[in-house]
Amino acid sequence: MSYEALRIEVANPRIGAFVSGVDIAAPLSNREVSELHQALADYQVLFFRDQHFTLDSQKAFGRLFGELHIHPNTPGPEGHPEILPIHADASSKEIAGEHWHSDVSCDPEPPLGSVLHLHTVPPNGAGDTLFASMYAAYDALSPRLKTYLEGLTALHAGERNYRRNNRLRGIDERGRVFPWANHPVVRTHPVTKRKALYVNRVFTYRINEVSEDESEAILGYLYRHAERPEFQVRFQWKPNSVAFWDNRAVQHLAVWDYFPQVRSGNRVTIKGDRPY
Ligand code: SIN
Repeated sequence: MSYEALRIEVANPRIGAFVSGVDIAAPLSNREVSELHQALADYQVLFFRDQHFTLDSQKAFGRLFGELHIHPNTPGPEGHPEILPIHADASSKEIAGEHWHSDVSCDPEPPLGSVLHLHTVPPNGAGDTLFASMYAAYDALSPRLKTYLEGLTALHAGERNYRRNNRLRGIDERGRVFPWANHPVVRTHPVTKRKALYVNRVFTYRINEVSEDESEAILGYLYRHAERPEFQVRFQWKPNSVAFWDNRAVQHLAVWDYFPQVRSGNRVTIKGDRPY
């Protein structure tokens, strides 16, 4: 498909595109919406500059792609449960997303995508986010390893990550139950039909069909492989930039190189389907 309503500048051959010529905080035409759907499928993560979202317009943008997800550990502010504040400052003991992951992959139906808007960014170009294409990671596996992984499933659970975060933030979480689910190690993207590696360091516990030792060795290899720089694009934020990524095809990591400076904004997350 050619793009008529959007200007697209490809970030690199494997992942990412800068999108301009559109105000995503305002109502969009059908053509703009359909090209945004296409661009997400084509590039896996879209970057926008100078977008002035309110909480309501950010949620309205997210809803163009599906129902909004409510975070299982951190529901949003009063009246906006679908908003996930992303904030770090001099009092932070950890930040969201500091290790490679696909958002909330512990959910039985993990999110389709996430839309992050930062209104405040640290000085001197700090606070980047890295995105890695799990299509590229899968494609680069050896044919033997692809055959080995065929049909394997892995347990993903929120417990370890969310309890750690809550402990560091001093949040009382007694009685809380966190989601878990088994997902295929290699998933098929429901729109593009491409295969993507779907295990990550934050939520994946083990591969179910093999011994614990074997699972640990294979997952260790897959994590290191997925994190190879040639599968990545690195986004440098400016105030009012937006990144919109497809969690079904991408892992990401936020770099915390700006302590004690402030980095702040909001994420909306779009519900997805059960991976297959
Ligand atoms: C996240 O959604 O994992 C946080 C990403 C970021 O802050 O760049």
